[in-house]
Amino acid sequence: MAKIKTAFFCSACGYESPQWVGKCPSCGAWNTFAQEIIQREPANVGNRGFSKKAHLVGDIVPESKPRIDTHDIELNRVLGGGLIPGSIVLLGGEPGIGKSTLMLQIALFIKDKTVLYTSGEESEQQIHLRAQRLGLTKAKCYILAETNISNIFDSAKEIKPDILVVDSIQTLFSDNIDSTSGSLSQIKECAALLQRYAKETNTAVFIIGHITKDGSLAGPKILEHVVDAVLQFEGDRNYGYRILRANKNRFGATGELGIYQMLDDGLKVVENPSEVLLSERDETLSGTAIAATIEGLRPLMVEVQALVGKSTYAVPQRSSTGFDLRRLNMLVAVLEKRCGFRLFGQDVFMNIAGGLRVSDPAVDLAIVAAIISSGKDVVFPHKNCFAAEVGLTGEIRPVQRVEQRISEAEKLGFERIFISQYSSIRSKNKEWKIEIVRTRNLFDLMKKLG
Ligand code: TYD
Ligand code: MG
Repeated sequence: MAKIKTAFFCSACGYESPQWVGKCPSCGAWNTFAQEIIQREPANVGNRGFSKKAHLVGDIVPESKPRIDTHDIELNRVLGGGLIPGSIVLLGGEPGIGKSTLMLQIALFIKDKTVLYTSGEESEQQIHLRAQRLGLTKAKCYILAETNISNIFDSAKEIKPDILVVDSIQTLFSDNIDSTSGSLSQIKECAALLQRYAKETNTAVFIIGHITKDGSLAGPKILEHVVDAVLQFEGDRNYGYRILRANKNRFGATGELGIYQMLDDGLKVVENPSEVLLSERDETLSGTAIAATIEGLRPLMVEVQALVGKSTYAVPQRSSTGFDLRRLNMLVAVLEKRCGFRLFGQDVFMNIAGGLRVSDPAVDLAIVAAIISSGKDVVFPHKNCFAAEVGLTGEIRPVQRVEQRISEAEKLGFERIFISQYSSIRSKNKEWKIEIVRTRNLFDLMKKLG
């Protein structure tokens, strides 16, 4: 009989420890360890298999594995040009964000490949209804409502799919392990089994995973090690936009972005996001500015909104949606100190329109401009846009790939773009129709904005 072993796992980061500890040595969280039974087969000492020979890196013959076209340009781009057979991709996101919808859509629209879509969350009837909403076609897409991983593999052996979708890893369980589904040891075991299956049968596997309240994937360390790519699906549920990004990708660049819109009949690809995001704004109001950002490889124009008003509290409020609050506090402090723009006793609210979350430092200048516009209650010409970082001394710093930002702004009909004095534009002989305004510091910006 196999020996029963137990271990303790941190429920925040998945760190494994032989005894209980109060504070996790890996993530520092307190009181997060729980005991779980892990049943290991006895180590197979006698059978080490053939020992492998090491090769010089140049002598290795590359295996050519053509990528699978998922028929979704955004997903293809985020994956780095399509899905690799035998790879295992984790799709994470909050409940209700649209992970099942995205995967079912992919499963239905890939016509030349066989897909097995297994769900532990919904019944076959429910999935059928959803498929009808999405525009059910005669796709080779099999549906299986199952939570036992051995049964899933039995079906997979019969169907031999090119793509296997598992919704979700938290509902799966394996008989080898004695704990409930969703526990860390089950997740670990099921992910390992899926990985073995993917590599042995050369099937591409998508695993859907829910995100815990604090924004991390449950059991993130375990899953992120096992899988080849980690995709995150996010967005504000009250807006229609959803963003797909790669946090890890063994076969392509991370930082790529896919933008979708959730409609009644499923997720639709947003091909020119800047135009969609900018079409909904009122150009006669103060407190808005447009930032020329870059997400992944794509330029994206986003609207920044600020509201500055007299505070009724002793400590004025600073609030930010879609942007780091600490960075907003820093920009407010820089504005006060370097330009004498008094914000003491004033509430400052900031919002990135469309429910987007931006981390590109190039939005700094647009945020500052929006705050100035709202604080002074002046409307800046709406054909202005901004692309630069703001430093602690109030200097306006260059950002990467400024030419791409200028081109996008010009394409969308902007007339002026504010960039750093020190930005270097390499293609000297290119004629820009858009006026490029170089600014040195915030003082200079205020003067040029008028
Ligand atoms: P779902 O894919 O079930 O989310 P997840 O798997 O991430 O938990 O999506 C749920 C939401 O999507 C639900 O609130 C309804 C909405 N939705 C639409 O707006 N249009 C559609 O065509 C579909 C299928 C869902
Ligand atoms: Mg779901």
